[in-house]
Amino acid sequence: MVNPLNLRTRARSRTRWGLLATLVGVAVMSACGAESKRDIGEIPYALLSDYEFFDGPMAQMVPAQGVLPYTVAAPLFSDNAGKGRYIVLPEGKTMTVTEQDEWEIPQGTTIVKSFFFDTDRRDGPSDDDTRIVETRLLRATADGLKSHIYRWNDEQTDAEYIRAGADVAIPYTDAAGAEQVQDYIIPDENACGSCHERDDVLRVLGLSTHQLNRTVDGGSANQIAWLSEQGAIADIDATGLPSFPDPAGEMDLDARARAYLHGNCSHCHRPGGGGGASGLKFTAWVQDEAEFGVCKVPAAAGAGAGGNAYDIVPGHPESSIVVFRMASTDPEKKMPEVPTLLADEFGVDLITEWIAAMPSRDCASPED
Ligand code: HEC
Ligand code: HEC
Repeated sequence: MVNPLNLRTRARSRTRWGLLATLVGVAVMSACGAESKRDIGEIPYALLSDYEFFDGPMAQMVPAQGVLPYTVAAPLFSDNAGKGRYIVLPEGKTMTVTEQDEWEIPQGTTIVKSFFFDTDRRDGPSDDDTRIVETRLLRATADGLKSHIYRWNDEQTDAEYIRAGADVAIPYTDAAGAEQVQDYIIPDENACGSCHERDDVLRVLGLSTHQLNRTVDGGSANQIAWLSEQGAIADIDATGLPSFPDPAGEMDLDARARAYLHGNCSHCHRPGGGGGASGLKFTAWVQDEAEFGVCKVPAAAGAGAGGNAYDIVPGHPESSIVVFRMASTDPEKKMPEVPTLLADEFGVDLITEWIAAMPSRDCASPED
């Protein structure tokens, strides 16, 4: 079985290394934005290397000066891809921290997110058998956010700007040593909005206090404090700010499940989001259990319900629509709707455990 936890750890270790590289870089030189020195035309540039985000061989993803790696507590599942995330601010500019929802990012900022796969899954995560498939950019312009996609070449030397998305076949060796191929979809540029748009405006999703307020660098630093030291945000005391636990960690089950649902579902399932009309709300700060699905009758009882009557039946994951749809890979039923092909086994297990632990109740007679 592919272990999503391994890949999460791998994403972290790669970023941790990047974090160190950045810390060293910043100590030696004064911070400045990663601006390109050559005249290579209008953004979006034709090649990812044109932005000069990375030093040395591109595939190593060593952040250049002013390129700040970061991690989120409750990452989006993307068919077991590992991710590298980076903030690139214009010189002298800062982001504005908010308690809930996305931070404000200044015009000229680029957020970079790379997706990579383990091509040899016999040995657990290691850095020498990674294949980077795509890098996504969100750029803050005077006209709001713009989204761009870069597809990596087979040689892993660079990535090319594409608009249309692509179906990619990724060869890999499975845990038992057999040669396999994983199908993966690079979404179309227009598909970014299905998750990143709220009230018809593109937004960043992971740059929020809950997602970023976490320990990084092997437990030695708080990420918000670190971002503040880097000059990416104003001086701030992270104590007492809200945070998400690691959904795969050891903390309270309810908090982990809610963090998972926030990270994977709330961009659509909230007012103004793509699934807002369903009435289901997965933002972590929603308190009313009926709003996050407990004994909630679905707005449209189609094939997606799998013959079940309620989104969440306390104590009964086997008759909860939420679990049924998360475990499905049928495009008519599956959740999230786009663009993954696999179910997140880790997420299904976590939400199953969470619902099973709720005191059993009969939704049809709520007064019991
Ligand atoms: C299935 C929903 C979904 C789709 C489709 C999607 N994203 Fe995202 N994206 C997310 C979520 C959730 C996060 C934050 C969590 C994380 O980083 O794991 C995110 C994070 C990002 C980030 C880091 C900044 C941020 O917003 O946190 C970038 C850059 C990004 N996405 C670009 C894109 C681009 C470009 C596209 C279109 C090709 C796209 N995304 C399509 C859900 C989606
Ligand atoms: C890209 C947007 C998007 C994402 C991400 C998404 N959903 Fe949905 N979801 C929808 C839309 C649109 C509907 C309404 C249409 C339908 O039922 O298929 C819906 C409906 C549902 C319903 C039926 C709810 C009701 O009461 O009517 C459930 C349950 C559900 N989603 C669960 C989830 C879960 C769990 C996740 C995360 C693992 C998730 N969804 C992620 C868009 C999304």
